[in-house]
Amino acid sequence: MTKNFDAQAFIANVTQEIQTQLAGGKKALCGLSGGVDSVVAAALVHNAVPGALTCVYVDTGLMRTGETDEVESVFRQQFNAPLVRVDAQDHFLQLLQGVTDPEQKRKIIGEAFVRMFEAQKEALAQEHGKIHGLVQGTIYPDILESQSGDFVKSHHNVGGLPEDMDFELVEPLRTLYKDEVRAVGQALGLPDSMVFRQPFPGPGLAVRCIGEITREKLDILRAADLIVRQELDGMGIWQYFAVLTDMRSVGVREGKRAYGYVAAVRAVSSVDAMTANWFPIPHEKLEVLSQRITAEVPDICRLVYDITNKPVGTIEWE
Ligand code: XMP
Repeated sequence: MTKNFDAQAFIANVTQEIQTQLAGGKKALCGLSGGVDSVVAAALVHNAVPGALTCVYVDTGLMRTGETDEVESVFRQQFNAPLVRVDAQDHFLQLLQGVTDPEQKRKIIGEAFVRMFEAQKEALAQEHGKIHGLVQGTIYPDILESQSGDFVKSHHNVGGLPEDMDFELVEPLRTLYKDEVRAVGQALGLPDSMVFRQPFPGPGLAVRCIGEITREKLDILRAADLIVRQELDGMGIWQYFAVLTDMRSVGVREGKRAYGYVAAVRAVSSVDAMTANWFPIPHEKLEVLSQRITAEVPDICRLVYDITNKPVGTIEWE
């Protein structure tokens, strides 16, 4: 079959679908992550049923350096829908304390998000009336990878959802791949800085911080990740980030034994995230990454370069 996705036709159809789902003055919350999927989903609902949407951004403490403030300011510039920012850093860290299994991490985070949204629903009820829907930026690969037959991992917004959730899901992008979501975002007139942002997983740095998650490990990972982004931004790479492994390795720093973390650089090219190839970062750039990360992040004393395609690896490490 020839590829004939038409963003305008999709927007027209899905607008009707949303209007039917939220008919009779129903309201919805949107769990905003700042990524392209949730932003495009929010824009579709906001345009389809003006006044129905309140967005909620949960700061889980699992975000990258500067990300929470950036998401908030970009959203406020672009949308006139209300936005509630919830600081839940301590709560998420507490829930994840001692948890090392990747699936368990994903389920805990998926449920914690929904409980946060339910609490907001109660808090907002007086001001906005009863809220029925939960808008999520779920896309087709999230569903495919989370369903039992093709199970790979529980995406936080699909397999990670609790069964007793008190919301009706509104997922306008659930049949699309990422490249199609971006086409819809462009057709809606969203700025390139939102539409072409590199994908970032809902469970955030939790799936890039291997083993138990602690504030200290998250800070180390954030410092390394910032350097990876500073060095690789603008190279047209689909996704590029640092991973902090749970392994330590012996090194030598300023003539003395060092025993620090092993970190990894992951960079991949992809079209729809279903498959991906490791991206050949030029050797000179790898040298800069190696020098900067080991010098500027003293807790990392060894850096490795992930050269695994998907399959057999996935893009994230957990
Ligand atoms: P994997 O690691 O399965 O990831 O190759 C495919 C794409 O999905 C992102 N990803 C997620 N996105 N919730 C999300 O919203 C999740 O739980 C999740 N897990 C992975 C990942 O960053 C990549 O772009």
